[in-house]
Amino acid sequence: MKLNSRQTEMLEGRLGWPSQIAMRMLTAVGSAYDADALIPVGSVHLGISGMSMAEPGMRFLEKLVAHKAAFVVPTTLNILSMDRDAVGTVPAIRADEDVQLRIARASETLGARPIYTCNPFVLGIAPRRNESVAWNESATAPYINAVVGARTNREGATALASALTGYTPNYGMHVPGNRVGGTLVEVTVPVSGADDFNVLGGAIGRAAGANIPVIEGIERRPSLDEWTAFCAAFAAISPLAMFHVVGITPEAPTRAGAMDGAGANQAPVKIGAAELASERSRYETARGEALDVVAIGCPHASIDQVRAIAETIGSRSIDPKISFLIQVNRDCAERARQTGLAQKLTAAGVTLLADSCVHVAYDQIPEGRTLATNSLKIAYLTASHNVNVHFGTLDDCVQAAVAGRWLGDSAKAAELARG
Ligand code: F3S
Repeated sequence: MKLNSRQTEMLEGRLGWPSQIAMRMLTAVGSAYDADALIPVGSVHLGISGMSMAEPGMRFLEKLVAHKAAFVVPTTLNILSMDRDAVGTVPAIRADEDVQLRIARASETLGARPIYTCNPFVLGIAPRRNESVAWNESATAPYINAVVGARTNREGATALASALTGYTPNYGMHVPGNRVGGTLVEVTVPVSGADDFNVLGGAIGRAAGANIPVIEGIERRPSLDEWTAFCAAFAAISPLAMFHVVGITPEAPTRAGAMDGAGANQAPVKIGAAELASERSRYETARGEALDVVAIGCPHASIDQVRAIAETIGSRSIDPKISFLIQVNRDCAERARQTGLAQKLTAAGVTLLADSCVHVAYDQIPEGRTLATNSLKIAYLTASHNVNVHFGTLDDCVQAAVAGRWLGDSAKAAELARG
């Protein structure tokens, strides 16, 4: 791999230990992927959950601080393993919380912006088209690549090395030839709303296999909430970091523009009502009406989604035995407070969980309990924790939380009729 003079200085340790260790990591990864060079990145989104970094990660970040390291490009922070407003409320996780807070403090000292969310787009944070970045969090990568037209791989620890050096290896999604579509997909039914796009993202992620899907049949540009739901579900099911929607995403003005010549002539994989129903049914692992926790907001909910939940609950309350969580970023939680939404939701029995989510939280849903969610990603991930899952629409989840039990279609109709 060719290094420029600054990269060589870093690798040789002439600019200090932090950039040297980071450069070692980047060149090792670059060599493994046959990258020809290290390229500049415009920004970094960094995963720092205590669940994944734990004490070794904390010690490493604090060592960087002790060496007076600093992030050299704008860097934002992904979610934490707890809500900072709830510190100390669960004694069993006190020690873990200390680790997480020290990780967060060290990251901020290094220069990161403490947004603590897996969905920076709702805060207006996004790269420019064609810009290379290093963003951690699988749910963000398809949005960056496909919707924005910028370039990122699904980053892991290398995001930290990029923040310290401003570089990433030139491989994967940074290489234009790797962004060409390979599987043609035709959506044959109308889809509308975040719940629909969520299931569609899972179905297309499954249908795509190892090839970037080129999607036809989506009739209008999705809203930000719809894109967010689609991208998170797609990335939960697929290892890919890219898709194209013909006529909508920036690198797919036409089918032929998104695929190579031969690929553009293939017969499409069709996704219709049956495929969507089949995708939805995969995540329903719970039996019966039992319900303990409802989690909405994966990725973190927008203020519009929080408002929609409050409107759906109306003058009713959540059943007291149900823990109803809306996962949000802190900015959204603050806006909900300022507009009175948060107070209304609290009075109805809803908790706004800021900074975190049930998947990475230290305070996990106990094994054997039953979760309801409208997020395919949370449903998919949580089932692997030995938690029973009801996977439905936002409306299904709210009606069940009010009733105190998961409702079948006829029970739901009766519940709605009772108001
Ligand atoms: Fe975000 Fe947690 Fe979902 S990190 S994408 S809310 S699993």
